[in-house]
Amino acid sequence: MKDVVLGLVGVGRIGVMHAKNIAALNGTLNPQGINVRLRLTDVAADHARAVAAGLGAEFLPSVEALLASGLDGLVIATGTGTHPDLIKAGVDSGVPVFCEKPVALNVADALPLLGYIRERNGVVQIGHQRRFDAGYLEARRAYQAGELGWIHSLRAVTCDMAPPPVEFLASSGGLFRDCSVHDFDILRWLTGREIVEVYAKGSNNGDPAIGAAGDVDTALALVTFDDGTVGTVSATRYNGAGHDVRLEIQGSRSSIMVGLDDQAALASAEPGVTFPSGDPHRTFAERFEAAYRSEMAAFVELILGRRENPCTPDDAVAASRVADAAQESLAAGVPVRVVQAVSR
Ligand SMILES: NC(=O)c1ccc[n+]([C@@H]2O[C@H](COP(=O)([O-])OP(=O)(O)OC[C@H]3O[C@@H](n4cnc5c(N)ncnc54)[C@H](O)[C@@H]3O)[C@@H](O)[C@H]2O)c1
Repeated sequence: MKDVVLGLVGVGRIGVMHAKNIAALNGTLNPQGINVRLRLTDVAADHARAVAAGLGAEFLPSVEALLASGLDGLVIATGTGTHPDLIKAGVDSGVPVFCEKPVALNVADALPLLGYIRERNGVVQIGHQRRFDAGYLEARRAYQAGELGWIHSLRAVTCDMAPPPVEFLASSGGLFRDCSVHDFDILRWLTGREIVEVYAKGSNNGDPAIGAAGDVDTALALVTFDDGTVGTVSATRYNGAGHDVRLEIQGSRSSIMVGLDDQAALASAEPGVTFPSGDPHRTFAERFEAAYRSEMAAFVELILGRRENPCTPDDAVAASRVADAAQESLAAGVPVRVVQAVSR
């Protein structure tokens, strides 16, 4: 049986989930003769040691020790500001890298990294897990098969139930960069088109600490695509009904909605309508549980040379360019053009 050794740096909110998913990979990959082993580290050493012990993984005291231990791939799940240096370290050590989105806090910080990776033939997969979600995949298939006709309107929604810690928000780059970047990525991926202009508005009616940290708790962006199609991308940190992620695509022939299942976090106002009747998801981890698993399995397949990179740094930076424009529009109060210098 072949061993694939993954090193994971950062076991916070999403890192713990990736660690569990990596530990669970052997069940699905074993039939192909692969045994995935996990080594992990975090500056919060006691916490990381406990996570490792709980998963039968190995704790290492530093990123340097992790990289020196002989890995087949590095998974980065630390805060966004640390991504560029850790991606470089992974590329320098010659192993494929999986890094959580976004590539960097902003596009200016990400651009030098793109050249760095390219010059060294680095393999870096970025964590836009919606590309593995069954609903988004089906919507993309339906559109590409011509079943929707031409798209006249798109409405993307990403709503958290409650805000993450204010310390996290203060270093997240803002609601559009942290949250809506998933929608910007999926809109490009699904339509195959570029967003060329963004006009954003936001509000702060929740915890004043979010405003004091320079962020908004709710925002909406009007996006215009390169063929003139318009759409909206909205996000909030305060959606009491549940973690609500949907995409409504209306076409000249038919319409489709991602996220409209029995667990959708909304109620019908129509008399006698009981759908949806299930328990709404509460977190991104629940909503995208299957997608996160598939994403990590895809990284192992990428390491083994069995598949193409499902989300390159260039893809992710293209979405971040839209997020940057949205943050700029939010601050300036005017529409902002998106400069897409990166080709896909
Ligand atoms: N794809 C998604 O749906 C999704 C969801 C949530 C977060 N994220 C992204 O994941 C990243 C992490 O977010 P989070 O919410 O898990 O953050 P977090 O603050 O909960 O966790 C980060 C962890 O990294 C550790 N860490 C920080 N710097 C380190 C370093 N240099 N070396 C070792 N450990 C270090 C911290 O101690 C902490 O445990 C962010 O970039 C965020 O944008 C993606």
